[in-house]
Amino acid sequence: MKVLIVGSGGREHAIAWSVAKSDKVDKIYCAPGNAGIGEYAECVPIGAMEFDKLVSFAKEKEIDLTIVGMDDPLVGGIVDAFEAEGLRVFGPRANAAIIEGSKAFSKDLMKKYKIPTAAYENFDSKEEALAYLETCKMPIVLKADGLALGKGVLICNTIEEAREGVKTIMEEKKFGDAGNRMVIEEFMTGREVSVLAFCDGKTIKCMTSAQDHKRAKDGDQGLNTGGMGTFSPSPFYTKEVEEFCEKYIYQPTIDAMAAEGRPFTGVLFTGLMITEDGPKVLEYNARFGDPEAQVVLPRMKNDIIEVVEACVDGRLDEIDLQFEDNAAVCVVLASDGYPVSYEKGFLISGLENFKDREGYYCFHAGSKRTEEGIVTNGGRVLGVTAKGADLKDARKKAYEATEWISFDNKYMRHDIGKAIDEA
Ligand code: AMP
Ligand code: GLY
Repeated sequence: MKVLIVGSGGREHAIAWSVAKSDKVDKIYCAPGNAGIGEYAECVPIGAMEFDKLVSFAKEKEIDLTIVGMDDPLVGGIVDAFEAEGLRVFGPRANAAIIEGSKAFSKDLMKKYKIPTAAYENFDSKEEALAYLETCKMPIVLKADGLALGKGVLICNTIEEAREGVKTIMEEKKFGDAGNRMVIEEFMTGREVSVLAFCDGKTIKCMTSAQDHKRAKDGDQGLNTGGMGTFSPSPFYTKEVEEFCEKYIYQPTIDAMAAEGRPFTGVLFTGLMITEDGPKVLEYNARFGDPEAQVVLPRMKNDIIEVVEACVDGRLDEIDLQFEDNAAVCVVLASDGYPVSYEKGFLISGLENFKDREGYYCFHAGSKRTEEGIVTNGGRVLGVTAKGADLKDARKKAYEATEWISFDNKYMRHDIGKAIDEA
């Protein structure tokens, strides 16, 4: 069969790698893709938001299945556009992707269906938000309602910071229209875990757990980024926590979406905080995590196409989802200056070291092929991943592999997976 993948980051590279392993697949296209994805797929220069062009391309090439990796097109209705033309596509429709697209929607859903999450209020006006703040204990969490590249969350330690934060979101519109509404929510402490799950509208099957490192600098300092590294599984996601989440979070979420007339098909990503009072939902995403996919997919035993087709056909209950009994760590190699400003276009050397090396992967995020070779082309450049017998082994191998790569302004965190020493 012919598969089209929509997106261009490290997550889409991990998806393309996974799809390429399937015996069912003869040809892979990726729009727009990147230099690493180009190894498995024919990259086509169509943007992820160019729905008409993507639909025409899929018809012309007789694509059997399209897999959408990114949040923007999902929230914007790419699945609806494909389905309207009778094309098979994996991902939630716009009316279900709203679980990521509007934080106010997801909070109200959790409240209505009694799914554990932080206490909160939604606001449409700056004045009301500011008045409410005066009644809150600090620290407090402010969230722009809409998509903001993972940057629309402000954690404020003082009332002054919080007042400024409300203005930043609702008056200055730092996150654009995402800040027309906002959520103010209780600050939670605990361990964060990401759990990705395949869904077919009624059944949900979880993948192995992972943990991201969102801050730019060691010791969780610096600005929030798209993610500087991940490990899987999380030792803090115990059997007990998992059972609690299955009973009170995952299936209730899928049932709630179905009950609201918004059946969720695709990958539901639940960001959890494991607090002293038990696990609570931080946020939902409507897609694979990036860089969570880079540690979860290499550990998956199933043929991804079989699982994805089961989701699209509404028979996920037939699938026995299985993961290897090992661990993986991904260290992101970024351009120095990310997430604010950075230079691009530096030659990357050492990529050949990953060829035919079992258990080591170099997933490209921001790279481009030029006449001189492959060059840096984004803030997050590569996701160096290694599998190991356990988390410590995987971490050692991943950090060794980061040394195989060089480019000017190469930057990484040195403490990805350090938390596992405390487990
Ligand atoms: P989100 O985009 O909602 O996942 O938020 C980004 C990051 O902000 C999360 O990964 C957490 O580290 C932090 N965060 C979000 N909500 C809360 C909360 N209620 N309490 C503490 N930290 C939070
Ligand atoms: N790694 C967090 C995300 O994909 O949103």
